[in-house]
Amino acid sequence: MSAQKVEQVKALLAAAVRDFSPVAFANSLGAEDMVLTDLIAKYQPDIEMFSLDTGRLPQETYDLMQAVRARYGAPLKVYFPAAPSVEAYIEKNGVNGFYDSVENRKACCYIRKVEPLKRALLGKKAWITGMRRDQAVTRGSLELSAFDADQGMQKFNPLLDWTNEEVWAYIKQHDVPYNKLHDRFYPSIGCAPCTRSVTPGEDIRSGRWWWENADGKECGLHVGNASQLK
Ligand code: ADX
Ligand code: SF4
Repeated sequence: MSAQKVEQVKALLAAAVRDFSPVAFANSLGAEDMVLTDLIAKYQPDIEMFSLDTGRLPQETYDLMQAVRARYGAPLKVYFPAAPSVEAYIEKNGVNGFYDSVENRKACCYIRKVEPLKRALLGKKAWITGMRRDQAVTRGSLELSAFDADQGMQKFNPLLDWTNEEVWAYIKQHDVPYNKLHDRFYPSIGCAPCTRSVTPGEDIRSGRWWWENADGKECGLHVGNASQLK
């Protein structure tokens, strides 16, 4: 990854703070988000970092949350799903009801991620994600900075043009902590029951909701790009 690309991200983060404060970074603790965690903690600590704890995350992700706290001392705010919604979902569909249909899966993602995201973004003027254009067919039309009509605020994707190799070069070069599942062929990590390892060479998101078709595999956090899919 070139020094120039890192400088571009730093400049974009600075512009986000200058023009859209308060700004929040949605931190899934995936590899891309760890690059942003490192850059934000070092250069733009005014950006609030938060994670959506769905209650179904792998132990390795919780270990990384703890490592982030130790390494950066940065406050990583955690948002939980609303307990009554989870209870009602389980009563209706069962605790693993998301395997039964795409509709049930999206309902679970709504309760455990989308609604908490709305709470996390209350009062913010912009949010930041670690999405990259080449991660998925649904992400081809992403922009570095664009108005997000779903959330009613600006959305920044500073690593948009980074490759997977560049992300890992940054992590190694700066000794950034990362999710140990990445070493076990989990390139993209979400909730434990909805994530599995991939065979080297397979699509990097093929281990997410592996029982569904690739063109619909978004959880609802990023509806805008999914709806732009032609
Ligand atoms: S997902 O939407 O299908 O889960 P992915 O795991 O690739 O997508 O994450 C894309 C971006 O969404 C991340 O870079 C991050 O900004 C945000 N995101 C996803 N999951 C979470 C989470 N649990 N907490 C906070 N942000 C998240
Ligand atoms: Fe529920 Fe799976 Fe979505 Fe997590 S990824 S919120 S467990 S359906």
